[in-house]
Amino acid sequence: MKILLFGKNGQVGWELQRSLAPLGDVIALDHDGAPGLSGNFADPDSLAATVDAVAPDLIVNAAAHTAVDKAESEPDFARALNALAPGVLAREAARRGALLVHYSTDYVFDGSGDAPRTEDAPTGPLSVYGRTKLEGEDLIRQSGCRHLIFRTSWVYAARGGNFAKTMLRLAAERDALTVIDDQHGAPTGAELLADVSAHAARATLANPELGGLYHLVAGGETTWHAYARHVIEFARARGVPIQVAADAIRPVPTSAFPTPAVRPANSRLDTRKLQAAFGLRLPAWQQGVDRMLTEILN
Ligand SMILES: NC(=O)c1ccc[n+]([C@@H]2O[C@H](COP(=O)([O-])OP(=O)(O)OC[C@H]3O[C@@H](n4cnc5c(N)ncnc54)[C@H](OP(=O)(O)O)[C@@H]3O)[C@@H](O)[C@H]2O)c1
Repeated sequence: MKILLFGKNGQVGWELQRSLAPLGDVIALDHDGAPGLSGNFADPDSLAATVDAVAPDLIVNAAAHTAVDKAESEPDFARALNALAPGVLAREAARRGALLVHYSTDYVFDGSGDAPRTEDAPTGPLSVYGRTKLEGEDLIRQSGCRHLIFRTSWVYAARGGNFAKTMLRLAAERDALTVIDDQHGAPTGAELLADVSAHAARATLANPELGGLYHLVAGGETTWHAYARHVIEFARARGVPIQVAADAIRPVPTSAFPTPAVRPANSRLDTRKLQAAFGLRLPAWQQGVDRMLTEILN
């Protein structure tokens, strides 16, 4: 089987290089592409020739415009990456009969209420990022291609920067920290996303009826404040020098940190559909976070 992976060096793309390897021959591209193969989502039409040249059975798209605040000032660029390029991949997947795996986000919702959202809950994006990601979903559905779209949230990886690393740096330097406590979600590891993607893609290739839209996040829920406390106390318990006292990690509302893009307050996603369809379970968010911390603290 031939697998064409876009966004190979992103958080999820990096882990997909590992998790897809046992399924077949993986041709993995970043935005620079490879000789004769464009991976540049800023030029969506160039991707059709890439799909033609590789002739994949499975296309996995981990590339996106993920700079949520920056997207507010470059909506056309965000739309090219998050909507138009996935639309071209979907059109080409439909033409070839390939399966397309794509990632979307809790930002397609307006974040109201406090219940976990199911896949059929009404959308209402609050930001350019959310709107362009939703348009990407729509274009994939409209193409008629076989697809898996996974909406996820609060993605982290051991590789590169992440929220936990930022909190650990600040906790080592400062006497007090303020962290947002009115946004609710589940930190989800790129490893988990990549592993579930490989299992689900394999199952869907064998049984096309499994295709569709799924919510995919780690189990449980937290806030950025409770997440920060978890990370800092994990490090303190392992002897990492931490300056900030536990009671000096203070909760603040989102309004304390104004940003160009509005974030949803409720990022809870209901994952029962995915767990039932694929016979998989999604471990508690702490399991993946503790594993990532163990890796980065060594
Ligand atoms: N991060 C989150 O918290 C989060 C939350 C919900 C959903 N998601 C979704 O999950 C998926 C994976 O996210 P991630 O966290 O792994 O993202 P990431 O680490 O920011 O990686 C994004 C990837 O997109 C690529 N990219 C950027 N500009 C490009 C261009 N012009 N052409 C081609 N590729 C380009 C980057 O490649 P280069 O490095 O080569 O530029 C990078 O590999 C995305 O669909 C995202 O929307 C993420």
